[in-house]
Amino acid sequence: MRQPLIAGNWKLNGTKVSAKALMTAVLEGAKEIGKAEIAVCPPFAFLDLGERLLSGGRVRLGAQNVCTEAGGAYTGEVSAAMLAEFGCRYVICGHSERREYYGETDAIVARKLAVVVSNRMTPILCVGETLEQREQGRMQEVIASQIDAIIEHNGIASFGQLEIAYEPVWAIGTGKTASPEQAQEVHDFIRHRIAGHDATIAAKVRILYGGSMKPGNAGELMSQADIDGGLIGGAALVAEDFLAICRAGDAAAS
Ligand code: PGA
Repeated sequence: MRQPLIAGNWKLNGTKVSAKALMTAVLEGAKEIGKAEIAVCPPFAFLDLGERLLSGGRVRLGAQNVCTEAGGAYTGEVSAAMLAEFGCRYVICGHSERREYYGETDAIVARKLAVVVSNRMTPILCVGETLEQREQGRMQEVIASQIDAIIEHNGIASFGQLEIAYEPVWAIGTGKTASPEQAQEVHDFIRHRIAGHDATIAAKVRILYGGSMKPGNAGELMSQADIDGGLIGGAALVAEDFLAICRAGDAAAS
């Protein structure tokens, strides 16, 4: 396992009051975490709060999305330079909810990765298959095409500047987790796909698992050779659960 990264994807949740309480609790609990790197990705509206509470501390700040454009007439969008100004370290790109509800194609995701990197932040590239695709036996084909599209648009070297999150769509927010063996199989597949172009980059890139990761299954998932952390949705909204997953990351790394 590489140094684990445990990133909380808060999605569209929280209020100023609850966001402050959650960030404060995570920051406090993070003092006991040794090896695992910890990040929280709140909605844009709470990034200012995040910067004020977290900057210089143990918990990194991330965003859930970014505009492909640097500026101009793009009502409602937020640029990578703005995210960087708030001290964001990570930006989630191509989450399945963005792909499904907001029409993000692989080409759009590739552009998002590029603007994030050029603003000195690290993208978390999400990939994953739907239940239907898995049942049709198309899991590998779908994952391969998502990875290959980024290689085609941004080059293999871009995988040296990002994190990957494998998030089977059927496991997100459903309580259904991929078994450690199922997840490891896909993580291994992704790493081999990248290794086909560059073995050094493939050995280094972190591949997080996301999809109903909880305190009860995090340890087993992260004990797999190619699972380097987690992108946590629901359980990231409860400080104790999120911190328990961070501790599991620590334990898996030692
Ligand atoms: P979940 O979400 O942990 O609630 O399944 C994960 C994600 O969508 O990043």
